[in-house]
Amino acid sequence: MRMYDLIMKKRNGGVLEGDEIDYMISEYTAGNIPDYQMSAMMMAVYFNGMTEKETADLTMAMAHSGDMLDLSAIEGVKVDKHSTGGVGDKTSIALAPMVAACGVKIAKMSGRGLGHTGGTIDKLESFSGFSTGITSEHFINQVNEIGISIMGQTLDLAPADKKLYALRDVTATVDNMSLIASSIMSKKLASGADAIVLDVKTGSGAFMKNEEDAFTLAKEMVKLGKHAGRNMAAIVSDMDQPLGFAVGNALEVKEAIETLRGKGPSDFVELCMTLGAQMIIAGGMAKNVEQATAMLRDVIADGTALDKLAAFVEAQGGDATAVYDTSLLPEASIIEEIVSEKEGYVEKIICDEIGICSLILGGGRETKESEIDLAVGLVLHKKVGDYVKMGESLATIHANDLNKLAQAKERFLKAYSFSDKPVERSEFIKGILV
Ligand code: URA
Repeated sequence: MRMYDLIMKKRNGGVLEGDEIDYMISEYTAGNIPDYQMSAMMMAVYFNGMTEKETADLTMAMAHSGDMLDLSAIEGVKVDKHSTGGVGDKTSIALAPMVAACGVKIAKMSGRGLGHTGGTIDKLESFSGFSTGITSEHFINQVNEIGISIMGQTLDLAPADKKLYALRDVTATVDNMSLIASSIMSKKLASGADAIVLDVKTGSGAFMKNEEDAFTLAKEMVKLGKHAGRNMAAIVSDMDQPLGFAVGNALEVKEAIETLRGKGPSDFVELCMTLGAQMIIAGGMAKNVEQATAMLRDVIADGTALDKLAAFVEAQGGDATAVYDTSLLPEASIIEEIVSEKEGYVEKIICDEIGICSLILGGGRETKESEIDLAVGLVLHKKVGDYVKMGESLATIHANDLNKLAQAKERFLKAYSFSDKPVERSEFIKGILV
């Protein structure tokens, strides 16, 4: 087989066979196919698309290109959740303990974040001493004992995707539905869960800016997961403004804890309840959404979800007392209000800009090597549809550097726009696919 022939076939609108895709992916991963040939292939795919079968074959080839996490030593159904990401997305920190408290097994391998704020692992490190650098044995035992563990990325999951995604990023071939769906699903399939619930975001702060594309991606990924024998569900949710109020690592952890105490922001609570219900059903612990939702309400009301977070933090070496006393989480030295210079109904918040404010403050990574300041960030007080008076606080900013604070503040004010007339809020959950 020659890569040249495969490029020509795809360029001319042909359909690649399973063995041709396997060859292309394994040889590319091994370094035997150069980037320039794979770039040409990606561009041919971009223009000519892939059939359903080609997309499924590509997904499976990439999933098997490296280690596959084996979770068979964990009893019961293992359920994973994946979000396509956004600003203020602290979902796993509240959702995982909620669902685990309902008896579903959560065994997750997570990476660090690159962008606005840290990833789940960075956020969890807000608990002093918390470590994801645990052994596979510790990971498996912990899930069997308390139902939840999150481990750092020690295995080489889907290395073909890592290489290919980096290549697509610099060759203008990221935004193709088959390539995006296979990229995300290859990593998820290699992570070993029996059931996967996807949260596909749409809006100005999301990868999928347009709702129709978000639904297409969700459908595509559900199909790929089912094809691989996994139990699947997906929701499409709004990311046209930050999720909840908090943006920044420790601030987001605090908001997740408030949510486990039953005092979370309404959009974030709705998201956790919707995803949680699907995870519980997929995990076989409830028959329908009503039953699953009632279980989630119970574990919040009686404190078992909060206790589950504490048990999880403690099992991985973290200071669990901070779960009950959030003043023990990292705190910034400068805390100021950002007051509105305008009056009216909040019409729009440029979501990405709020993320960039957190990044400027030091809450995110510009490069893989950057150190994250866990304490900094913003807590919004006004969201789309709210009325704001001149001089009223739009947000509280948490900073450790006056220069960065000034820069973030200026940018923050420009991210808000106002209207004289009341602004309708769009629906938060756009749809559920099973
Ligand atoms: N995220 C991924 O992991 N892969 C893509 O192709 C796009 C977004």
